[in-house]
Amino acid sequence: MIGWQRSAGRHHLPWQGTRDPYRVWLSEIMLQQTQVSTVLDYYPRFLQRFPDVQSLAAAPMDDVLGLWSGLGYYSRARNLHRCAQAVVDEHGGVFPPSAEALAALPGIGRSTAAAIAAFCYGERAAILDGNVKRVLTRAWGFDQDLSVAANERALWQRAESALPTRELAIAMPAYTQGLMDLGATVCTRSRPACAGCPLGDICVARREGAPERYPVKTRR
Ligand code: ADE
Repeated sequence: MIGWQRSAGRHHLPWQGTRDPYRVWLSEIMLQQTQVSTVLDYYPRFLQRFPDVQSLAAAPMDDVLGLWSGLGYYSRARNLHRCAQAVVDEHGGVFPPSAEALAALPGIGRSTAAAIAAFCYGERAAILDGNVKRVLTRAWGFDQDLSVAANERALWQRAESALPTRELAIAMPAYTQGLMDLGATVCTRSRPACAGCPLGDICVARREGAPERYPVKTRR
């Protein structure tokens, strides 16, 4: 995964060259429901107006909404503002240094907290957003219904067991970005490009000839 990320993954996205949690957090929130090409347009403008968490926390909500306008899902912008204020008021303006503490902030779910902690702190924390669920359930042939909470928990546990164990400061960012890139560019919802996949040799779904069967989800 790490080797593949280096050779074939996405690089040079504007939020990749930094370990500043403010910048990484902002990118992850924008990317939650918005595609990369759109975020590329909004992200630099937002940072220009709000270069740090203090400026964002101090801004009127209407200014934040103005810069968010067009990205949709406006509850994200409200939580963004609330989160910035919590970081300033409750954490002295410094994002807390663990996935667990990040997940307690407004608008930061378990997977987003893990992404920030892996990218910025090299923490051994598992992400499991929609794309990554697809990659991992296919690779492992994990065919239990993810609308059942116990099965989702089991997948989280497995994702945690599969994390790198050495040289985490380098390995965790590359592994995390690699999983995201694989889900976005190779292990796509329909007609995945299995021939170019670094997991092709071990992937259960590919061997079965039915990658599109995964992830199994009867309700949503
Ligand atoms: N989607 C969510 N997080 C992302 C990231 N860091 N890079 C590219 N796409 C993403």
